[in-house]
Amino acid sequence: MTHFLDINKTSKDDLRGILDMALAMKTARAGQPRGAPDQDRPLDGRMVALIFEKPSTRTRVSFDVGVRQMGGQSMVLSGADMQLGHGETIADTARVLSRYVDLIMMRTFEEETLLEMAEYASVPVVNGLTNRTHPCQIMADVLTYEEHRGPIAGRKVVWSGDGNNVCASMVQAAGQFGFDLTFTGPSQLDPEAEFLGEARKSGVNITVERDPMKAVEGADLVVTDTWVSMHDSQSARERRHNQLRPYQVNDELMSAAKPDALFMHCLPAHRDEEVTSEVMDGPRSVIFDEAENRLHAQKAILRYCLGV
Ligand code: CP
Ligand code: NVA
Repeated sequence: MTHFLDINKTSKDDLRGILDMALAMKTARAGQPRGAPDQDRPLDGRMVALIFEKPSTRTRVSFDVGVRQMGGQSMVLSGADMQLGHGETIADTARVLSRYVDLIMMRTFEEETLLEMAEYASVPVVNGLTNRTHPCQIMADVLTYEEHRGPIAGRKVVWSGDGNNVCASMVQAAGQFGFDLTFTGPSQLDPEAEFLGEARKSGVNITVERDPMKAVEGADLVVTDTWVSMHDSQSARERRHNQLRPYQVNDELMSAAKPDALFMHCLPAHRDEEVTSEVMDGPRSVIFDEAENRLHAQKAILRYCLGV
């Protein structure tokens, strides 16, 4: 069974293979209408369940479109509308869904839910975001960086803001793809030490720098994300905003990075909070290429998991 649960749970070679396939598939269908099927339709006859326990625009639409382009069929399920949201166990849900579908993609709150789904399913399970990580996003980010600037290995990525789930997958990617990562943010919102320690074992530089201007010196890529994630309590909003305001990505911060540094954000963004509109809409921003690449990266992840 080949699940895609986290960047650090798939081998370096397989991660690279997924990105190579993503780029090849993207190139092969360049200029085609969005709804046109891929030439080889590798998911012909396959059924994919897309389960969401949290809102989504990109993940939902890109997985759905990707499955269809590859000749498969998909169904989008809201956790709240399933018996899962009314007391049926995750294990039983996993066993039942495995009798109907060929793959389960899940966006959920606790990582344990995803891991239990993977343990009891007899089909591959893909992580579509948990409170702890968001691996599909970071596969798209690496693809986007490399399309614009070549190999990411040896580059310096700076994460400015909340050390959240997307940041955690970026830290894991540093170890797996061999790039240096500097986190800059308030100490209360540091990424988990476990993620930092594990990435360091791969020999890359993983640093924490409280001064954002110092952090971005020599950066090839600057990344941020919302200050309040879907799993964060709204009552923490004001406190988080106060803590994170110095880490806003704006023109001043970007000017301290390398002249050809790129800017990324997984979206949805809160304009003029974690990033200014000037940066989002400016020449260094590749946020919409990044969003598009969710589609291409995930199509390759689905093929990898299904072995097709
Ligand atoms: N970046 C991302 O996962 O977006 P959605 O929440 O819209 O899926
Ligand atoms: N950190 C954000 C990412 C959304 C795609 C969240 O979890 O809400």
